[in-house]
Amino acid sequence: MNLEGKRILVGVTGSIAAYKTAILTRLLIKSGAEVQLVATASALDFITPLTLATLSKRPVFSTFFEKNSGQWHNHVELGLWADLFLVAPLSANTLAKFAQGGSDNLLTATYLSCRCPVMLAPAMDLDMYQHPSVRANLEKVASFGNIVLDAETGELASGLSGQGRMMEPEHILEQVIQFFNPKKDFLGKKVMITLGPTQEALDPVRFLSNHSSGKMGYALAKAFEAQGAEVYLVVGPVSLKLDENRFQIRRVTTASEMFEAAKALHAQMDLVVFAAAVADFRPENPVAQKIKKAGEELTLRLVPNVDLAFELGKIKRANQFHVGFALETEQEEVNAKAKLVRKNFDLVVLNSAVEAGVGFKHDTNQVRIFHKSGREVSSALLPKESIAALILEEVKNAAS
Ligand code: CTP
Repeated sequence: MNLEGKRILVGVTGSIAAYKTAILTRLLIKSGAEVQLVATASALDFITPLTLATLSKRPVFSTFFEKNSGQWHNHVELGLWADLFLVAPLSANTLAKFAQGGSDNLLTATYLSCRCPVMLAPAMDLDMYQHPSVRANLEKVASFGNIVLDAETGELASGLSGQGRMMEPEHILEQVIQFFNPKKDFLGKKVMITLGPTQEALDPVRFLSNHSSGKMGYALAKAFEAQGAEVYLVVGPVSLKLDENRFQIRRVTTASEMFEAAKALHAQMDLVVFAAAVADFRPENPVAQKIKKAGEELTLRLVPNVDLAFELGKIKRANQFHVGFALETEQEEVNAKAKLVRKNFDLVVLNSAVEAGVGFKHDTNQVRIFHKSGREVSSALLPKESIAALILEEVKNAAS
């Protein structure tokens, strides 16, 4: 009963995911919260007020007043009553109104009047979710301090597959519980995370690199910071928008730049996470001018790059903790365990490069964690935020 006594106003908007609000309501109630639902008219095309009212044990509010009784639903009071306003699912339309300050129904008016924190779980089709106007609106509401729960990836109601599904109710519940009971297990700790790919130039316009998006490393950064750590990011070229206010950021391009930046910080760190996909090789002789076609074969000679994890593993102190990743396509467990030893990691997180929904560019991941002590843990296919939470839990238990 982690939410005992908490008052949660749950907003529902017009999306097929509205049926999941019934499950979410049940989970919140089971965790001890009081839940008041407020729905837009189109949300009630997807889920009946009777279902939601029965599960929440309260009438569902959708209009400013009841036509028959004339009873007035005061949006200001609703906003003041709540400890948290959770809108799940949040449609593109209501998101746009939130971003613009529109107020044409009870839910949007409540959003404008509420003083409590707001948590948003968007749900829409994949192309809608990626549309620049939706991205801009999500960024805008995040800049108001609203907590945005990234949509998950999977099959969508349209039949397409991609990112846009509302975060699963169980995962939303985790976020709500973490919000009300923030753990500060890493208060005062300094954490360095390497993330993203590196790029190794062939000539001024071409490079060798890989598909790393930096998402897993950044999910870890957010999780450590939320738990009180001071987080340093040594980050290769990524398209993620990194929060300069929350993190100390060192931007690099090549493996050797990443190594120099990480080495300079290493001595001060309590914990290091090697989440970067460092290019193992670089062209031996990058040339100053663009390589021209000459109609014949081109042979590139590659030389090995420095292995950050291995080199910093050699100078790791007893009071420092190193976390590594292993991306394998075969003999996964054997290879991951070999990396644990060779690179002097305290734990290694194995993700498979061959399973669906796992690894590069995905928002979900499925991992196995191997500790130096022999402890092993496996996860389900989860959003990278939940994987980050699991890794933090494992680090905390091993390091304490
Ligand atoms: N790593 C690193 N520097 C490198 C290569 C890897 O710091 N030059 C780190 C990664 O960040 C990761 C771990 O080492 O934490 C393992 O990376 P991975 O690419 O799986 O292993 P490699 O050592 O590159 O081995 P291989 O490519 O042969 O599997």
